Amino acid sequence: MSPTPTNPLDNKSQAWSALFSEPMSALVQRYTASVHFDQRLAAADIAGSLAHAEMLAAQGVISAADHAGIQRGMAQIAADIEAGRFEWKLELEDVHLNIEARLTQLVGDAGKRLHTGRSRNDQVATDVRLWLRGEIDALAPLLTSLQRALVEAAAPHAETVMPGYTHMQVAQPVSFAHHLLAYVEMFARDAERLADVRKRVNRLPLGAAALAGTSYPLDRDRVARTLGFDGVCANSLDAVSDRDFAIEFAAWASITMMHVSRLSEEIVLWMSQNFGFIDLADRYCTGSSIMPQKRNPDVAELARGKTGRVYGHLMGLLTLMKGQPLTYNKDNQEDKEPLFDSVDTLAATLRIMAEMVAGIVVKREAMARAAAKGYATATDLADYLVKKGVPFRDAHEVVAHAVKFATARGIDLADLPLDSLQQFHAAIGDDVYAKALTLQGSLNARQVAGGTAPERVREAIAAHQARLRPTAG
Ligand code: ARG
Repeated sequence: MSPTPTNPLDNKSQAWSALFSEPMSALVQRYTASVHFDQRLAAADIAGSLAHAEMLAAQGVISAADHAGIQRGMAQIAADIEAGRFEWKLELEDVHLNIEARLTQLVGDAGKRLHTGRSRNDQVATDVRLWLRGEIDALAPLLTSLQRALVEAAAPHAETVMPGYTHMQVAQPVSFAHHLLAYVEMFARDAERLADVRKRVNRLPLGAAALAGTSYPLDRDRVARTLGFDGVCANSLDAVSDRDFAIEFAAWASITMMHVSRLSEEIVLWMSQNFGFIDLADRYCTGSSIMPQKRNPDVAELARGKTGRVYGHLMGLLTLMKGQPLTYNKDNQEDKEPLFDSVDTLAATLRIMAEMVAGIVVKREAMARAAAKGYATATDLADYLVKKGVPFRDAHEVVAHAVKFATARGIDLADLPLDSLQQFHAAIGDDVYAKALTLQGSLNARQVAGGTAPERVREAIAAHQARLRPTAG
């Protein structure tokens, strides 16, 4: 048995202990390595190590000189990684062992003391949380931008009438602004959910060590403060084992993508020639290699498609967790790629959706024509009769007859002359056209809170603008 080598991490089988009598098989090495993807956690790993070392020194567990050595070594490592000079080694398995090995190479024994009172189990849980918190803070403003883009796209269209649908059948007229604001509400809830997820992400596992805590006099609150965590994970077993914070994030990502996907689906429909409600700026469209006339809404389609992979990541993470006994199991190494891809997909999608929404060109006439076609004001005629004292159920029946009559003639209710409308009910007067049968009259009537009346919609726009206004400072 050879004496302890200068850097045990130079030979990974010896990173564990002298217990191992043969090197790891090459296949196992490749199968278990994660450094090719988890190097993305490097900045978080270094920040976590520096906070840990600072606390170890403050508690007298390591010397001030060792602490200084660790700081110096880490500064160089951070600079090397930043510059793309750092040599990542598959044999060193993951980001944690790669950085620690290099630190020891640079500063000797001080590097070997860094891992005192720590395990990769609490280390990796800390790194993922730190990293994810940073990504959440970068995603939140993208969600705000998308909401802003929708509100600005809505602003000129409080009186632009389009058909509102149920069952994909023309139901009642709504304004285009009101329709877009529905998505603003959805994304506002997504923003709330994201802020809520952040609270549970932002807890410090470090100090849990491998699973049971540690016998060193660690000051976990100090590390939490240094790293900007809201507090520590209260139970060491829970701290190293659960990834529910990642699952919650993936659930947020899935719900947000579900909303993005619905909006995308509508953009695709609206842009098809059969609707023709909107056009998209050329820069968001692609052509066809065979059909010269085509301009395709590929971005919206891709956003809709990418929703599938984000749901997949949620399922993957849930399934990854469900069979694991306490505490840490290597299964958890599989949490990273789904998380990374979710973050990347959401960031790219939210950014491009905000831009694309700003590039929507509204075709008012087509929207109005479609709204006028489907007897969208039938409910208004019924309500008109109710206001003249007719019970609603009777009014409903009267209007059904009128619609049947108009349908047989291929015309709209508003095209029926007064005397023919009066055949269905004597209470119908010549005010019916302005009050009930025009699209604008129908919109104006829906003054209830949350309704599509232009006044209500303008109030909603103003409220959202105030809420989304960038705060000074
Ligand atoms: N690369 C590992 C992961 O991502 C780090 C923790 C490994 N811990 C262990 N005891 N094998 O989960």
